[in-house]
Amino acid sequence: MSNYVIIGANSEIGTSLAQHLISHKHNVILVSRSKKSSWGSSNDWLDGIDLTNELNLLTLKNFIQSKFNSPFTLIHSVGNFWEHKPITSTSFSEAASQINSHYITLFGVIKAVIPIMQSMGGGKIIAFSCNSVKYNYPDMAAFTSSKAAVECLIKCVANEQSKYNIILNAFALPSIKTNSVIETKPSEYHNDYATLEELSNCIESTVEHLSPLTNGNVINLFKYSDSFYHKGYYERNIIWEENSNEGIKRLL
Ligand SMILES: NC(=O)c1ccc[n+]([C@@H]2O[C@H](COP(=O)([O-])OP(=O)(O)OC[C@H]3O[C@@H](n4cnc5c(N)ncnc54)[C@H](OP(=O)(O)O)[C@@H]3O)[C@@H](O)[C@H]2O)c1
Repeated sequence: MSNYVIIGANSEIGTSLAQHLISHKHNVILVSRSKKSSWGSSNDWLDGIDLTNELNLLTLKNFIQSKFNSPFTLIHSVGNFWEHKPITSTSFSEAASQINSHYITLFGVIKAVIPIMQSMGGGKIIAFSCNSVKYNYPDMAAFTSSKAAVECLIKCVANEQSKYNIILNAFALPSIKTNSVIETKPSEYHNDYATLEELSNCIESTVEHLSPLTNGNVINLFKYSDSFYHKGYYERNIIWEENSNEGIKRLL
């Protein structure tokens, strides 16, 4: 039985992962900006935490210290969803909201928990990136560059903190079968996406077996899919005539 902190407990992936870990008898505490959901216990859920607010980050730090006195794994499942569009249609405020919600929130969380982990003799931090960083797909520049910053932060802090037995890795996710993905991607590919349960199993088994030597990595997850392996990006997305969700909406 291990200790976990799920940051972004109301995200689709965070909820699924938290419920999976609780059902496997791990000690899980939950953190969200939005109101606590009815399935969670009030004692173990801290809500109202905006991770770009330094006072809220201090509250988060105190909450974790009051709950755990031995090493824990922190999972950052935070960041605004991206709908594909070219940079010419991306506003400055959308770009700022991507970098704030993906990168700045992770920076704030890491800064808050590193002193706790140091005092406990170590700990693990997991962040979610996306395979778009590897492939540099079009129409995703603001999102993908924010995820590239997430990966870089994880690697830098891993190098800096490994002397304290603190392990940081990122999972580069493919499309996961969340409601937002289902609503915005062509239906013929829905069966190709990894499910939330597959992802939760994968994260639990990877985290539980992470050696301290497995530090500062981007772990790529993928599921075999005929369309992924036998079609190029543009063939897979042929419905997106103008390479954007705006294009899809006009087609429908
Ligand atoms: N779904 C996919 O296929 C996929 C693919 C690749 C990577 N990922 C990554 O996996 C993670 C989770 O994805 P998801 O689809 O489950 O996300 P989601 O359901 O869209 O939820 C995003 C979460 O981010 C939280 N958030 C945003 N800004 C915040 C802030 N300033 N302070 C605190 N919380 C903030 C929101 O919190 P509140 O609801 O509490 O306001 C929300 O719960 C994200 O990093 C995403 O980029 C997902």
